[in-house]
Amino acid sequence: MKVLVATEKPFAKVAVDGIREVVEKNGHTLALLEKYTDVNDLYAAVADADALIVRSDKVTKEVVEHAKNLKIVVRAGAGYDNLDLEACTAHKIVAMNTPGQNSNAVAELVMGMLVYAVRNFYNGKSGSELLGKKLGILAFGNVGRNVARIAKGFGMDVYAYDAFMTADQINASGIAKAVANQEALFETCDVVSLHIPATAETKGSINYALVNKMKKGGILVNTARKEVINEAELLKLMAERTDLRYIADVMPDADADFKAFEGRYFATPKKMGAQTEEANVNAGIAAANQIAAFFKDGCTKFQVNK
Ligand code: 3PG
Repeated sequence: MKVLVATEKPFAKVAVDGIREVVEKNGHTLALLEKYTDVNDLYAAVADADALIVRSDKVTKEVVEHAKNLKIVVRAGAGYDNLDLEACTAHKIVAMNTPGQNSNAVAELVMGMLVYAVRNFYNGKSGSELLGKKLGILAFGNVGRNVARIAKGFGMDVYAYDAFMTADQINASGIAKAVANQEALFETCDVVSLHIPATAETKGSINYALVNKMKKGGILVNTARKEVINEAELLKLMAERTDLRYIADVMPDADADFKAFEGRYFATPKKMGAQTEEANVNAGIAAANQIAAFFKDGCTKFQVNK
C-alpha cells in the first residue's frame, strides 16, 4: 500500500524518519509531499495513494475525488475540522485523528505565550506575574488538562468548564475547579484559555457578550481555532475596553485590525502549538501505526466518521 504524507507545514525530520520506519516495517511504501503551495500538487500526489497522513492540510471533496485508491486518511493531530468527513464517508474512506499526541506541546505554548503577554512582550516595562491569578480553561480535553497541570506549577488558581463533562468529573481531576457554565468561567477568571474544537456550535461563540464578562485586565488566549472567535465583535470590544488583551496561536483573519491594539495583541505568524519534534514524532508515528493496524486487522479505533 502507498502511504502519502502530505504536509504543507512539514513534520520534523526525526518524525518523518519514524513514520517511514513504521510504514516500511509493515510492508508499505512511503511518499512525501512537503511544503506544497499549489493544491494541484496535492491532487496529483493523492492520485495513487492508499492512505494519507495530513496535519492541518485541507482534505476537501476535491482532494477525495482525486484520490481514487484512498481507503484511510489520518489527521496527525487533534482537530479534524480540516477533513471533509461527508466526502470521506461518501467515498468509503475511514477518517481518523490522533487525540492527545500533541497536547503537551500546545499546552506548553499556552503558558509561554501567557508569560510573554504578562511581561509586556519583553519590552522592558514592568509586567505582572501568574502566581495566584485565576486561569479559566474552556473545554477540559487533552490540551485543557495539560494546561491545568502546568498552570498549577505556576501557582495559578485553575477553573474549567466543559459542555461534555460534569462538574464532578472536572473536580475529580484534582487540577481544576468546575464552574457552572462558560459565562461563569469568563466572569471568574483573569485569563481564559480556549480549547474547544471548531464545530457548528462553537464557531463564532467567543463573542462580545461573553468576553465582556471578563474582569479588568482580562487576557484571552486562543490556541484552538480562529473560527471560534467572532472577530468583528472582539475587535469592537477591544476598542471599547482598552484593558483587554488577546493572544493567539491562530492568526485571525482580521490580523491587521487587531494589530492596531499595540501591546494588547499578539499572534504567531504560523500555528506553532504542535510544532515540536516531540509532538511531530508522537502524532506522526501514531498516525502511521493507526494506518498499519487498519490495513492489518481492520482496526478503526480513532475513526471520526463512524
Ligand atoms: C491540532 O488540532 O492537532 C493542532 O491544532 C495542531 O495542528 P498542526 O498539525 O497544523 O500544527
